[in-house]
Amino acid sequence: MVLMAAFFEEKVLDVRHWTDTLFSFKTTRDPTFRFLNGQFVMIGLPVEGKPLLRAYSIASANHEETLEFFSIKVPDGPLTSRLQNIKDGDTIIVGRKPTGTLVQDSLEPGRNLYLLSTGTGLAPFLSVIKDPEAYERFDKIVLVHGTREVAELAFQDRILKELPDHEYLGEYIREKLVYYPTVTREPYRNRGRITDLIESGRLFQDLELDDLDPAHDRVMICGSPAMLKDTQTLLESRNFREGSHGEPGQYVIEKAFAER
Ligand code: A2P
Repeated sequence: MVLMAAFFEEKVLDVRHWTDTLFSFKTTRDPTFRFLNGQFVMIGLPVEGKPLLRAYSIASANHEETLEFFSIKVPDGPLTSRLQNIKDGDTIIVGRKPTGTLVQDSLEPGRNLYLLSTGTGLAPFLSVIKDPEAYERFDKIVLVHGTREVAELAFQDRILKELPDHEYLGEYIREKLVYYPTVTREPYRNRGRITDLIESGRLFQDLELDDLDPAHDRVMICGSPAMLKDTQTLLESRNFREGSHGEPGQYVIEKAFAER
């Protein structure tokens, strides 16, 4: 089948099913495909001769040879009902134009960088926490991942075990990366919504960090529309200013892309 030159065709290398509703996969990466850590791109499958695409954050870093994506499974979702069945050796299509706001040049320099995510909103931050530039710019990178259930706290082994041993980034990660998983609907050592943990100050007490301050702190947010709205309201009430590509600010947001 001839697809438009707007796409790369990439081979699936590895698929991991985390829960009934979450999976991730790696693919080959065309050597000419360039992106910034934290960006998203359209990916999908050819369906009846046409590309069926959705936006996906790239969960791998731009210095890696493969691409990685983290997805929910929506039973009747046009793309994810199909994509969840991909196997090693299958082909997916990847757009040539990555974009997005969760990138370093959307943020002013600062002291601590908070990466606030729920669900598959973790994906872009899996890329950011492997970005040497982010570690050069900030003293601490605080990755917060909120989910309903413990099993949805995907990638814990990578964050806690593999990355601290990473050949080039290990030292940065051991020194600067702080990981705070939190769960709302089951017992767990950290409980509650990210917004509540910030409002109550619990997050900062647990991490022994100062409360959020636009003078020093920078925030990237990725989650459901409701989570984005509430977190944005909270930051605005504390005088954080939103940034964008070309006009850096103190926080940036992006929807965790999902089919409903
Ligand atoms: P909760 O269980 O209290 O709804 P979802 O799967 O619905 O996207 O939720 C993922 C995580 O995000 C859950 O822990 C959920 O908490 C939390 N969450 C949902 N809505 C918001 C919101 N408006 N602000 C902060 N966290 C939220």
